[in-house]
Amino acid sequence: MNRRQRAEEYAPPPDEIISFRNVNKIYKSGHSTNYAMDDISFSITKGKTLSIVGESGSGKTTFGLASLGLLEPTSGHIYFQGKNISKLNKSQQRDFRSKTHMIFQDPYSSLNPYDSIFTTVSAPLESFQKGLSRSERRGRAAEMLDKVGLSPGIEFLDIYPKSLSGGQRQRVAIARSLINDPEFVVADEPTSMLDVSITSTVINLMKSLKNELNFTMLYISHEIATSRYIADDMAVMNLGRIVEYGNPDEITKSPKHPYTDLLIRSYPRAGVRILPGEERHTDYNVYNGGIKGCTFAHTCPFKTSECETTKPELRKISHEHWVACFHPIN
Ligand SMILES: Nc1ncnc2c1ncn2[C@@H]1O[C@H](COP(=O)(O)OP(=O)(O)OP(=O)(O)O)[C@@H](O)[C@H]1O
Ligand SMILES: [Mg+2]
Repeated sequence: MNRRQRAEEYAPPPDEIISFRNVNKIYKSGHSTNYAMDDISFSITKGKTLSIVGESGSGKTTFGLASLGLLEPTSGHIYFQGKNISKLNKSQQRDFRSKTHMIFQDPYSSLNPYDSIFTTVSAPLESFQKGLSRSERRGRAAEMLDKVGLSPGIEFLDIYPKSLSGGQRQRVAIARSLINDPEFVVADEPTSMLDVSITSTVINLMKSLKNELNFTMLYISHEIATSRYIADDMAVMNLGRIVEYGNPDEITKSPKHPYTDLLIRSYPRAGVRILPGEERHTDYNVYNGGIKGCTFAHTCPFKTSECETTKPELRKISHEHWVACFHPIN
């Protein structure tokens, strides 16, 4: 096997589904350079729910879209089941598309108002299971609608999104995402557009569907409490980098990165920009185009000169806990 082939494919460890290797996503406008992903090397564990938390603009959606091949990184490689997703041939691409799905934030814009619920939910079957008859597809769609709590499913097939509430629409989007038995699902803030009163119902639904159907889920949220409830693993993002990773209970009870600590302490306002001077300081300390040291150094009360000059890498500090910080909280 030559070097080129090696970069395209490898035998992944049995518990790995997705792997990022030195992935950057850079947006340039005028003189500013924005690192939506800053040299991310990270693997998603198969069969688990990984939650990515972080403030608005930290790069969560960028990470999610990139993991599904819906956004091309500026550099670096992303592997799905050991295959480089930017080097897939036509049939591999089709296979990747059929195994992955995204649930978007806004169920009002993610459902086509002119498509019936049947057409919407069965679209992945139409694309990827060509052999099914229409009545088989209707059966599968009705069954899936039952599973997401739109019951009896058969009565929802021929209606249109306009007669559904926000929560019901998001259930339809969830049904569509799961009907083709995906292996990997990205849910990007799936409840943030919904009424608070139905948020927990939808979260519970996703949690139980995940356990029943056994896929891997990337759950994106700026809300630590919900993430902790739904996730097996948690990753905290700050300005394009993953700065803390591990067991959600441990991270929430005993955060090691000062950024995570601040995020938790400022809950429930963690979704808005609350940090003093919280801007992208990309015009100083430029190294390899990015921030030379820690992305949080400009705000961190514990910073030393090392934090401004050297990039802290994620390192293991206990059984299920990793942190990218030279002076983690005790
Ligand atoms: N198409 C784009 N063009 C330019 N900059 C972009 C683009 N998409 C994202 N960005 C920038 O990349 C950074 C990361 O954005 P991203 O949407 O991934 O953040 P996020 O963590 O999902 O935020 P939110 O919680 O608000 O959804 C932000 O600074 C954003 O402004
Ligand atoms: Mg986002």
